[in-house]
Amino acid sequence: MSLQAAPISQTSPAPWWADAVIYQIYPRSFADGNADGMGDLPGVTARLPYLHNLGVDAVWLSPFYVSPQADAGYDVADYRQVDPRFGTLQDFDTMLAEARAHNLKIIVDLVPNHTSDEHTWFQDAVAAPVGSPERDRYIFRDGSGDNGDVPPNNWQSIFGGNAWTRLPDGQWYLHLFDTKQPDLNWNNAEVRAEMVSILRFWLDRGVHGFRIDVAHGLVKADGLPDWAAQTKMVEGSERRRPNPEDTILTPPYFDQPGVHDIYREWNKVLSEYDGDRMLVAEAWVEPMEQLFQYVRPDEMQQAFNFDFLLAGWDARQIAESIEESLEQAGRVGAPSTWVLSNHDTVRHSTRFGLQDPTRFPKGINATDEQPNEELGRTRGRAATLLMLALPGSAYLYQGDELGLPEHTTLPDHLRQDPAFFRTNGVERGRDGSRVPLPWEADAPGFGFGDYDDAGSTPGATPWLPQPDTFGDYAADRQVGMSGSTYELCRRALDYRRRNSLGQGSLTWERQHNPESGVVAFQNGPVLVVANMGIEPVKLPAALKVEVASSSDAVGNGALKPNNTVWLTL
Ligand code: NOJ
Repeated sequence: MSLQAAPISQTSPAPWWADAVIYQIYPRSFADGNADGMGDLPGVTARLPYLHNLGVDAVWLSPFYVSPQADAGYDVADYRQVDPRFGTLQDFDTMLAEARAHNLKIIVDLVPNHTSDEHTWFQDAVAAPVGSPERDRYIFRDGSGDNGDVPPNNWQSIFGGNAWTRLPDGQWYLHLFDTKQPDLNWNNAEVRAEMVSILRFWLDRGVHGFRIDVAHGLVKADGLPDWAAQTKMVEGSERRRPNPEDTILTPPYFDQPGVHDIYREWNKVLSEYDGDRMLVAEAWVEPMEQLFQYVRPDEMQQAFNFDFLLAGWDARQIAESIEESLEQAGRVGAPSTWVLSNHDTVRHSTRFGLQDPTRFPKGINATDEQPNEELGRTRGRAATLLMLALPGSAYLYQGDELGLPEHTTLPDHLRQDPAFFRTNGVERGRDGSRVPLPWEADAPGFGFGDYDDAGSTPGATPWLPQPDTFGDYAADRQVGMSGSTYELCRRALDYRRRNSLGQGSLTWERQHNPESGVVAFQNGPVLVVANMGIEPVKLPAALKVEVASSSDAVGNGALKPNNTVWLTL
């Protein structure tokens, strides 16, 4: 059986995003250009040569817009301005021009489900009377009960607690996330027009696309019916329902049919621009068939493949996920995407070092099980190498190229994630994956605020502390060092590009045996073998190792557990 990334080539040549490797930058933690302890756009610009050298095709920037930072920028107060913490619009333009000079495309984050409560629209709504046009841009309702003091329905916030907050005048507003993130009303024409205008603002500046935050959440079911369960962004460790016959219940605030009209309209807007601009959906939607509805030919171009991310270090789940993703992608003519980590998840090199490497904790603190760091690093490299051989487009989260682990012992008093506070610490939250990157092993703050490499700017303390072990992972210990994770990724990306693996197809090979922990497939000239089992796997003697996830991956003609190799003739 051979599975194609997607029959994308109705257009020839294929659009850039069909097989792109896209690197996620979390601006506050990538590089600190003005040494104030918080990353910024000049820091990004200064480090573009590092990304160019790595060999990625594009960068996705998490939000850098004006925001009170109640959810690290996913609470936008002005969609057309850069937050002074991160720089200026001029800094953005400079970064974009530099990216172009380095042959890198830039994707920005769009947050259309909610604004900040400090957005002028929400402030106007609060000041305006009940029933006013200002309130109609959001989801305001009267409460029930004798005094209207019972929330309009029973919806729970995804961050924990109630999804409704009451104003002094008695009305309630909906926020699927934090109180400071009121949901917009997508039945309101002004809201729709404003978001299109924001798209155009950034398209006119030259961005190549948008990552759409909570893409499945914009439209709510009529009448806002009750929903008993609480929904989480990342569902527990069970990637698949135990019984495939079980019905998946869709909450009335997610994946409503009407949401697709919005993306059809946006598709038309993007097509007015040259250069294959794109939209990628952040949509936690099940089953996969539903997810791929977002990438039908007249909607978005890509959707994150969270099924793959949730598969863990488990050959059976990974093989199933790959197979189903490619099948579903083929049905709608979109490329599949692949991702292992992002700013909302525990980093994969840490998850894979847990006793159960399919477990998906919502953050880790010092009292929780601590990962086996070395095992996690080894498996993390092997998983990244497997991912980069798959047909389609792949996403790397900043630090993946360094094999960076999660900070698993952050003290509670330093945590900032609203999910930590809204669950009273039951969820440790996402801060551990958002720790500033280590650039120089021997510099203060591991060189986070010292981007000129001259050692002249010591920089303020990074906004979150880095664990001591980050020195071992620092970029200056890896770039140009044979055997490092960075050089492994660079080599893999180079080979992938030269051999168009992203546009290839996948055929399971003789060694493929998920029940024994082995995933093996051919894509173009490479035979990829990943060993997630406990026994060594014999490799075909006639083939040579092109790329290996560790220096001692192969011994006596066999692939050791916890490793991946790319073999060629
Ligand atoms: C998804 C983002 O990735 C996450 O960081 C954010 O908290 C929520 N959407 C709400 O915007």
